[in-house]
Amino acid sequence: MKLDTVYQLQCMNEIMRKQIQTYDIDSLAILGVAGGNGLEHVDLKKHNKVYGIDINMEYLNSCKSRYYGMQDKLMLLSRNLLDLSIDLPKAELVIANLFLEYIGLDIFTFQLKKMSPAYVSAVIQVNDGEGFVSESPYHNAFDCLESVYHEINSKALTDAMNEIGFELILEIETELPNEKKLKRQDYKKRNKAGAD
Ligand SMILES: C[S@@+](CC[C@H](N)C(=O)[O-])C[C@H]1O[C@@H](n2cnc3c(N)ncnc32)[C@H](O)[C@@H]1O
Repeated sequence: MKLDTVYQLQCMNEIMRKQIQTYDIDSLAILGVAGGNGLEHVDLKKHNKVYGIDINMEYLNSCKSRYYGMQDKLMLLSRNLLDLSIDLPKAELVIANLFLEYIGLDIFTFQLKKMSPAYVSAVIQVNDGEGFVSESPYHNAFDCLESVYHEINSKALTDAMNEIGFELILEIETELPNEKKLKRQDYKKRNKAGAD
């Protein structure tokens, strides 16, 4: 495995640790969970339910064997998140890392509303130069889905989240050695207090 790929996996693992540990939540859902990098940071005493959602059955199967010990606390769901008719579970925290590029912001916010989260944490890749799939450990999945690639920029993400009632609470950039940057943006559901 190329060094850049290993480094990116380590970075994503560390970001997932912080995403999972930052908020006082009981349930979480990971959109585009792939093989489950970072799921070892779930605290089985604190987190009651973890949903891992992905279109790719192979990834879900490897995630299942890797995290067998989580038993029924981990529920893996095979879903195409481009399909507006799917049902999705409720979760207090929704994590969407390196995933929004596949479904775009309109569908993302549409699906998010079904899950009623209090917090949403997303990582997008800031492109400087070559396309973001080139050094990815998930190359095969990207190959078959290239036609649905959506460019996501951080302001457009915040605008879309504001529209569905979320405010930006955290923004952190991580530099990768290959001149790419990962940007984590976290959102909190606005308090309805004061509304009629
Ligand atoms: C780049 S990987 C991200 C993996 C992981 N979140 C991470 O950051 O390490 C994108 C994942 O999204 C999944 N995916 C792509 N399009 C999807 C769709 N329409 N519905 C559900 N999952 C999808 C792919 O199968 C792949 O596992």
